[in-house]
Parts: sequence; C-alpha cells; structure tokens
Amino acid sequence: MGLDDVLSWVEQDSAEAELASQIDFERLPTHVAIIMDGNGRWAAQRGLPRVHGHRAGIDSVRDVVEASARLGVQVLTLYAFSVENWKRPPGEVATLMTLLKRYLRQELRTLLDNNIRFNVVGRGDELTPDIRDELAFATRQTEANTSMQFNIALNYGGRAEIVDAARCAMDAGICANDLDEERFAGFLYTAGQPDPDLLIRTSGEMRVSNFLLWQIAYAEIWVTETLWPDFRCRHLFEALLAYQRRERRYGGINRPVVAG
Ligand code: FPP
Repeated sequence: MGLDDVLSWVEQDSAEAELASQIDFERLPTHVAIIMDGNGRWAAQRGLPRVHGHRAGIDSVRDVVEASARLGVQVLTLYAFSVENWKRPPGEVATLMTLLKRYLRQELRTLLDNNIRFNVVGRGDELTPDIRDELAFATRQTEANTSMQFNIALNYGGRAEIVDAARCAMDAGICANDLDEERFAGFLYTAGQPDPDLLIRTSGEMRVSNFLLWQIAYAEIWVTETLWPDFRCRHLFEALLAYQRRERRYGGINRPVVAG
C-alpha cells in the first residue's frame, strides 16, 4: 500500500497519477465516510429511469473501495441505504437490494484479494432473509482480513443508531452516572472503530442526511458537484488533498495539522 501501489494501478502520466503523487501518505485520514448521492439525477440527465443511476453507481463503489484499500485508508464507510429510503417506490428499493447482492457476489474475490474486511452498519434485522444471508456470508468470508475495513451503511439512520445504542446501554444495566462519551460510543454500530476524519458527499448537496451523526462530530466535510456514478479514484484523491490542506482544531486553537 502507498504511492507505488497506487501508481502501479492508475494510468501512467494521467491526472490520477499526478494527483496521487501529491498525497502525503503519512497523513491519510484513518476513516473516510461517503454519502453517495446523485444517482437519480445522473440517470435523469440521460433520460433514463432512476435505477440506471444506481446500477452505474456500482462502478464507482468498485473503484473507490479498491483505491481506498490500495492507498492505505483503514476504514471506509459507504452510505448505501438509509432508514428513510424505504419511502422510495418498491421497484427502486428492490433494485437497490438486488444490486447490493450482485455487488457482494461479484466483488467478494476482490475484497479477499485486497485483504478487505466487510462489515454492515444499520438495522440488519429489518432486512429480508436473503439479503441478511448474503451480508452474513460476505462478513464471514472476510472476517480474518486485516487491511481496510469496509462498512456498508444499510438500513442505517444516525438517530436510530443513537436510540439503539441508548437501549443497549440500558439493557447492559449501565446507570446514568456511569455513562460517558467513550462508553456510549461502545454501544454504537461502529464500536471499536475510529470516527471518520473525512466525510465526502457527492452531487453538491450540503446536508449530512442522518449519516453517522455521533461519529462525524469533528469530521472534515468535502462536497463535490460530481454525481456519484461519475465519481472515481481521481475525485477521492482530490478529496484527500483538500483534507490534507485543512487545519483540524477540534474546538481548540491553532492545533497543528495532524490528520489521520
Ligand atoms: C443516492 O442517490 C443514492 C442512493 C440512495 C443509493 C446508493 C446506492 C448505490 C450506489 C448502489 C448500491 C451500493 C453498494 C454499496 C453496492 P439518489 O437516488 O438520492 O440520487 P438523486 O438525489 O439524484 O435523486
């Protein structure tokens, strides 16, 4: 992992290679989270039904997962389906679930080859048994992998996660006086994982859309006008470079940039 690995993968003398060579691999964000948005608009711009945008978005997922692992990002979280997304037409929901299944089947080999550990965050028990089985299979197959952790947020809501964590804390018999931020975080779906350092949103919308509400407290946010189906590793490199230009202060003053 690192520059040599990335350069062996991107086209020589390309814009991607030029951007990659500017990245400081000692200061990568540990955890990158992405709100993949704009699939519907991408399809509409081409006069196609919305589901074509989701289908095209799979190529972006593939590119970004592989690029992140090769760069040396430790955790990547993609927002694939929110608790609110059930309000979409049933055909669109069904397509999204089918695409997810197909992606996992087709990409399992790549996940294994790249030593990537797959994980799901969200209310898994509300998904259909076939999806749960597919997710469980990919999770089991990759659980011994030690490189990047790849989280898919599925049937995920930030508020729902906080409510679920509060319930778990109560079930565990934790009394109010014993609860602090660190202990509470141990009941979130992302327990044990570092918080995102960088949150990327595509399609230009300036919203966090109920995504990782607790965990993004100090994340740097980078928004691009690029629609998700057009997002490729080049955009990821741009986001990383923008991140490395930020000064992270965590509410303090003039803290030196120690990203990652
Ligand atoms: C938002 O675009 C995108 C989604 C709700 C789904 C994202 C899902 C995928 C890219 C495919 C499956 C994912 C994986 C990880 C295999 P939108 O439909 O809200 O776009 P719009 O705002 O332009 O309407």
